[in-house]
Amino acid sequence: MPTVAIFGATGAVGREMLRVLEARDFPAGPIRLLATARSAGTEMAFRGQSVVVEDIATADLKGIDIAFLAAGGAASRELAPRLVERGAFVVDNSSAFRMDSDVPLVVPAINGRLVAYKRHRLIANPNCSTTILLMPLAPLHARFGLSKVVLSTYQAVSGAGQAGVRELERQIELHATGEPGSTEVFGLPIHLNLLPQIGPLGDDGFCQEERKIVTETHKILGDSSFTVVPTTVRVPTMRCHAESVYVETRQATDCERILAAWGGMPGLSIAGGCGMTRWPTPRELAGRDETEVGRLRAASADGHCYSFYVVGDQLLRGAALNAVEIGELLV
Ligand SMILES: NC(=O)c1ccc[n+]([C@@H]2O[C@H](COP(=O)([O-])OP(=O)(O)OC[C@H]3O[C@@H](n4cnc5c(N)ncnc54)[C@H](OP(=O)(O)O)[C@@H]3O)[C@@H](O)[C@H]2O)c1
Repeated sequence: MPTVAIFGATGAVGREMLRVLEARDFPAGPIRLLATARSAGTEMAFRGQSVVVEDIATADLKGIDIAFLAAGGAASRELAPRLVERGAFVVDNSSAFRMDSDVPLVVPAINGRLVAYKRHRLIANPNCSTTILLMPLAPLHARFGLSKVVLSTYQAVSGAGQAGVRELERQIELHATGEPGSTEVFGLPIHLNLLPQIGPLGDDGFCQEERKIVTETHKILGDSSFTVVPTTVRVPTMRCHAESVYVETRQATDCERILAAWGGMPGLSIAGGCGMTRWPTPRELAGRDETEVGRLRAASADGHCYSFYVVGDQLLRGAALNAVEIGELLV
């Protein structure tokens, strides 16, 4: 059984990875958990045993078969080559290597075949909003082709890690006192607010999160011939990203055929079934593996334009679950 290590085990994604490995009975032998010196020495539970967290800076990296990295981009850039050199397969949650041409960017239900060949020792997990978008988008791309995608996201604070969750919790606590609370993570109060920029703005006016959605969508689908125009918004929910999506398809289609295409996508459920009598919410989807799509409607009479709404747990489908599924393909 492989030795498995989680780097960044004490973070929002790392904790979920540990839980998902246990829940899915991942064929792991010994497990190693690593974080910064701040957390070294603390204990975390795995399969009824207590595992002591090691300090990444001083840990011996030998003997690791599968390394899940969730310690941020800088740590990934430093750790991934060293782990690969020592014979590990590395699944990286950061954006450090996603756009490298020799690094596969994988959502298992869409392009998991890239992992099956075991040619690559470093595999990148996509950005969380991109993965959630692609769950309903990839089947439409495969069946009907795409010419344009316009979307707005509603992204939970846990997308910015545990510090993001703590910042919103504190602002909620302080609300009645009239004090604003710290805005270190989001720059402005996020409680009772909406912030339509995630990451630095580029010269083109798009922010970093929007650029990731465009480039990663094109890379994963292996097709950059269609336009993608995202607007990414941080909202005061704790967990799950929601996305309102408008698409133009190359072939004309209808709602029945779109629902049939979605019905064949593993990990995607249709809110209220094909009658679409409900719609998904972050509260309902938090902690759940499936991504849920709803509110499908035709936006033109010619069969080319559709709108829909999708929600998924970004800590699971957008990070931990997706990474563990990649690990399952590796073993
Ligand atoms: N949150 C999401 O929804 C999400 C989704 C997809 C991808 N990601 C990516 O996943 C990674 C982890 O995100 P997160 O949300 O889990 O962040 P987080 O909650 O802030 O956790 C970060 C983890 O990394 C450790 N760490 C921080 N700085 C480090 C350093 N310089 N060297 C080594 N370890 C360090 C932390 O250890 P301590 O506890 O000791 O500080 C903690 O275990 C990031 O690359 C992020 O972009 C996040």
